[in-house]
Parts: sequence; structure tokens; C-alpha cells
Amino acid sequence: MNADYSNRNADLGALYPDHLSAVMARHDDALEKSGAAHAVIFSGCPRYSFLDDNTYPFRPNPHFVSWLPLTDLPLSYIVYTPGEKPRLIYYQPQDYWHSVPGVPEGYWTSGFDVRVVHAADDVIEHLPAERDKCIFIGELDDPAHAFDIERINPSSTMNILHFARGRKTAYELACMRLASRRGVAGHRAAETAFRNGQSEFEIHQAYCKAVSLADNELPYGNIIALNEHGAILHYTDLDRDAPSEQRSFLIDAGAQVHGYASDITRTYALADAQFMNLIERMDALQRDIVSRVRVGIDFRELHIETHRLLGGVLVDADIASGDPDTLLASGVTSAFLPHGLGHLLGVQVHDAGGHMENESGNVIDPPSGHPFLRLTRVLEEDMVLTIEPGLYVIDMLLEELRGSPAEAHVNWNTVKWLRPFGGIRIEDNVRVLPNGQENMTRDAFAAA
Ligand code: GLY
Ligand code: MN
Ligand code: MN
Repeated sequence: MNADYSNRNADLGALYPDHLSAVMARHDDALEKSGAAHAVIFSGCPRYSFLDDNTYPFRPNPHFVSWLPLTDLPLSYIVYTPGEKPRLIYYQPQDYWHSVPGVPEGYWTSGFDVRVVHAADDVIEHLPAERDKCIFIGELDDPAHAFDIERINPSSTMNILHFARGRKTAYELACMRLASRRGVAGHRAAETAFRNGQSEFEIHQAYCKAVSLADNELPYGNIIALNEHGAILHYTDLDRDAPSEQRSFLIDAGAQVHGYASDITRTYALADAQFMNLIERMDALQRDIVSRVRVGIDFRELHIETHRLLGGVLVDADIASGDPDTLLASGVTSAFLPHGLGHLLGVQVHDAGGHMENESGNVIDPPSGHPFLRLTRVLEEDMVLTIEPGLYVIDMLLEELRGSPAEAHVNWNTVKWLRPFGGIRIEDNVRVLPNGQENMTRDAFAAA
């Protein structure tokens, strides 16, 4: 992977020791409360396709990645015993068919007792002998990889770790700023490709080249949507042919640095002034919502407030009529914006713990009628989350309004005008501060 983004303008090596201490402290806490002596964190196992000897792209255990910046090290283990230096059992197979992990190197190595093993059978001698006092954390396709550890991902332990992952360390924030800058480089290249009339496939290639990441290394499948495709929320086809008329472009694409993701969406109009105006209104709405992010905000309320503001945009743009509360209560705003306002972000694009009230695992449900909201917590300092309001013409949902009082609130002629443009989403990655926020995405666009 191109190292250009791995440490640019951020001394990750200087920040890493405190990060490692924080990760160790949360495991101290989780192990003590779970009555266990050791955590064994498995990196993951390559998966083979059916009847074949090809593997799917390797996706590491996010818990493993939160310990150290190794995203491509299958069949390896971190062994952590409170009070001791964490041990890394680094699997470097003897294999002449595939490239194998190189010599362990980087700013993280001094934090670990690294044991390089060349055969799976050699792992066992580096594991704690008292397996009944171990907790295994990771995905287990093959029971043999647990080496007789019986406590696999116990929810009491996982809840503590997931809840703690909500707040990012300074090292994680630095990685995420770099991931934003990397993603923004791709967004700029993609916008240029769109304006040059290129196909979705070509725009995707321009993006991957600019971020220097292969498809498999992206944090999620790029959404590169021209025209009507912008209304398909998770559109991941890539049409090989450019449409005869380019009207609009919705791009939801991220990047990663050391496993930490960015998740960025922008929408562009090629020429239509009315659609451009609607994008500007949605951009103003999105910035308004971002400006309200701070410690103590209940994200459920921010989501509902977004719907009220969206009601105002729908009326201003002559897409609907009525007051915002009526449009919210009658389901009009949800038909145009069926997904959540945002989610936690980190080593997973939809980072764990978004519905957790506390480390005991109590759940905060999304508001009624808004089941897809992935973040329901009260915001805490150094959480990183997305703010991603949208507005789409999704006929399946709009048709459900027919026959209800909501039908009369929709200006179906304007919907007809909007349909060929698909939709709009604008998504930034935002860090929560005591009295405000840091917008990593807009900062990265400003710096580009
Ligand atoms: N890219 C997926 C999302 O925005 O949640
Ligand atoms: Mn997102
Ligand atoms: Mn996204």
C-alpha cells in the first residue's frame, strides 16, 4: 500500500504509546469485570470461496486493528495479560505461492513482545497455558483457531470494549484526519472525471488511483452514482458506459489509513441550475446540523431536527407543502430521507456501539418510525461520527404516501422533475468537542 498517507503531517509514532495504553486500560477493565486473566485477540482467517482454492479479500477483526496498524496479517494473535507487555504472535507462513507478511517493523513494535511463528502449530506455545482464564475475541470459522479457549466473545466483555471504542484517542483522530485527506483526494479526482463525462466505472478508477487504494482496500464499496442511480442508497454497480446525458453525480466513497476509515459523500450537478440550488440548500442544512454537534447532544434529537429542517427545504424547493412538523408526522420527510442522520466511525465504517447506553449493554432504541438510525447515544468528547442528511426520489417509498393525507402534501410535478437527478446526500466526518466540533472532511477539502 502506498505509504504516502501513512504518516503525513502527523507523528503517529509519538501518539501511538498513549493509544496503546488506552487500549490496554480498557482491556484491564473488561477482563477484571469478566473475571478473566488474559485476552486473546485473533486477527482473522482467510475465507475460501465454495469449491475453490481462492480466498475472499481478507477483512481483519476490527478489535485486532484497534490494537495496532496491521490490517493484513491473518492467523495472528495478540495476547494481553494485565500488567504485562502485550504479545503479538505474528504469523509469517512458509509459503512460496503467496506473498507473506514481512519482518515486523514500524512505530508499534516497541510496544509489543513480538513472536514470529512460521507454522500454525507453533502458535500454541505462545498462548497462556491456563486457557480457562482466557477470553477469545474474534471471528471463529474454525474451532481449532481458539486452541480450546471456551469463552468466545462474551457479551459482557464485548460491551465494555465496544462502548469504550466510541471515544477516539489522539492517535486514532490523527489516523482519521489522514483518512479524510486521502478520501478527499479521491473525491476531487472523481468530480473531475464526472465533469469530463466519464462512466461510473471510469470515475471509480480515477478515485482508486487518487487514493492509491485497490477496491479491496477501501473501507466500503464505493457508491458512484450518475443520474437516477443516486436514489439507490447503496448503489454499488459501476456502469461501464457513460450515460448519454450527464445530469448529476452522487459519490459516497471513503479511504482508510491504518484501518481507520473516512466515509464521505458529495453530490454535484453538471448544469441544471434548479438542481444546483437544491444541492446548495441541502449543503446549508447539513452545515447547520454539523454546527449543532457538541458534547451532551442527544443524537436522536438531532436526527429528528434534521427532518424538521428537511421539511423546510422540501417546502422552499416546492417539493412539498405544509409545515415541517406535519411533514415529519405524516411520513413525508421519511419518504424523502429514509436513512439515519449518521453513525459512529472508526476501524469500522459503521463503528460498534452506536446504540449503547452504557458499557453494560443497555440499548437505546431509535425513535419510533426511524428504525435505521445507527447512532442513538448522547454525544461524548472525541466521538467521531458522520452527519449525512439526504433527499432522494425513491418511488417505492413515495408510492406508500398515496391514499394517505400525506399524498396531498407532495408536489408530484416537482418530484417528476427531480426524479432524473436521483438524489442528494452530503456526508462529513465530525469529531465531538466540549463546545463544538471538528469537521475533518471540510478541513480536508479546505486543505486540498
Ligand atoms: N457509506 C455508507 C454510509 O454512509 O453509511
Ligand atoms: Mn456514513
Ligand atoms: Mn457514506
